[in-house]
Amino acid sequence: MDDLQTVQTDNSIPAKLVELEFSDGTLHTRDGPHPYLQTIFGVSDKYLRRLFNEDQLNEFKTDCLQNIRGDRNLTIEQYINKYYEFVKREYQKQYIGAESSLNQFIFSDPEKPKALWGDCLGFLQRMDSESVQLMVTSPPYYNARDYSQWENLDDYLDEMSCIIKECYRVLDNHRPFVFNVGDIFDNDNRHTKSTWGKRRIPLGAYFTAIFEEHGFQFVDDFIWDKGEVQTQRHKNGDRPYPLYQYPVNCYEHIFVFYKHRLDETPYPCPICGCLKVNGNAYSRVGVKSWECKNLECFERSTANRGKRFSARTQLMTGLQQQENLVPENLLQMWRRDIVKFAPIIKINSKGQNTLGHTAPFPNEIPEYAVKVFTGVNESVLDPFAGSFTTTIEAFRQGRNSIGMELNRTLFRDAVQIRFSKELNTLPVELGDGK
Ligand SMILES: C[S@@+](CC[C@H](N)C(=O)[O-])C[C@H]1O[C@@H](n2cnc3c(N)ncnc32)[C@H](O)[C@@H]1O
Repeated sequence: MDDLQTVQTDNSIPAKLVELEFSDGTLHTRDGPHPYLQTIFGVSDKYLRRLFNEDQLNEFKTDCLQNIRGDRNLTIEQYINKYYEFVKREYQKQYIGAESSLNQFIFSDPEKPKALWGDCLGFLQRMDSESVQLMVTSPPYYNARDYSQWENLDDYLDEMSCIIKECYRVLDNHRPFVFNVGDIFDNDNRHTKSTWGKRRIPLGAYFTAIFEEHGFQFVDDFIWDKGEVQTQRHKNGDRPYPLYQYPVNCYEHIFVFYKHRLDETPYPCPICGCLKVNGNAYSRVGVKSWECKNLECFERSTANRGKRFSARTQLMTGLQQQENLVPENLLQMWRRDIVKFAPIIKINSKGQNTLGHTAPFPNEIPEYAVKVFTGVNESVLDPFAGSFTTTIEAFRQGRNSIGMELNRTLFRDAVQIRFSKELNTLPVELGDGK
């Protein structure tokens, strides 16, 4: 059965003749917005006006009316996506440090891996807020490797703190930062530079405090059991007496910190798409949830309560696609919070460095992080890319992959050797490093 109807829009968009037809009991449109879009705008109008000014509302409605097509369910889905995108764009506009050419380079061609040579802090400060869905990295180790440059532990932690603060801004909301770091045995250089100043430095604990200071929530600490290691730490085996004994350190931390920025913006009901919602509760620290108050909504509880949801549940539901299924063997491997796999050994029997980098982490870490915390086409950033292990793995998994590395030699080695050898492709490059 065909039906003809004129849809009058309330923001001066030319009224459009929309042809409707019944197919399988559903309403469809051929070349115009579905009339249900008008229902959404009608029910939501008062609430949209509380949130957006006249110009913003016009811009949002125009975009919806021009681009949303399909049956009622598709209309609701597209409308909700547009709403989230619009709210995010408005939020991003509040940060004035963003540089559009850099963001275009990073986000406009997701099929190509991006390799940025330079100080990650400088790049991060020019990136859009909440634009990356996952960060995975291991930081430069304080004084443990040849690229270290800090006078003492405080200088090192201060620099890391500035970077982590900026990472928090750039990371999308309700998303994780997977951070691999080992505790070390070294001199913090606070009191003396001689060997008696050496001690076990709990970097994992210090970094946890820094992450929390900048708003991250500690969620997990996987202990990466590295098996037998080369460390000299256990030196007192020849004195089997009290107070002489220390264990060999053979693990590193793989932390999972989440960003849950408390966002009080009301979001539309995922069932009916309308913004007639009331604040329900906080489902966890930093996560606001909502309840649909639209009595015409298609889903109500037996007690006649509306759908309850949050931006976080909406995000998690959206990722439940076949293409994002996490393989069973990976889940099994990471079922417990102690995981065992071999570290990268890069010094061969002749004492030569075979990988050209001093501290690469094994592929298992980014493989887990990318598959468990992102969906296809989302963006993954490693601010301390080193040999670009994360970037290569994220690209393999179909993510927009971005790596930043300060050291020019490491950068060139990775770009010229690793990418072509392992991926048969080269990344697009951007560089302002020393
Ligand atoms: C532990 S390594 C990362 C290893 C990496 N996960 C891999 O698999 O190769 C840390 C890296 O951070 C780099 N780095 C140090 N400070 C930096 C900065 N401010 N910006 C970007 N990279 C930096 C170092 O040159 C080093 O390559």
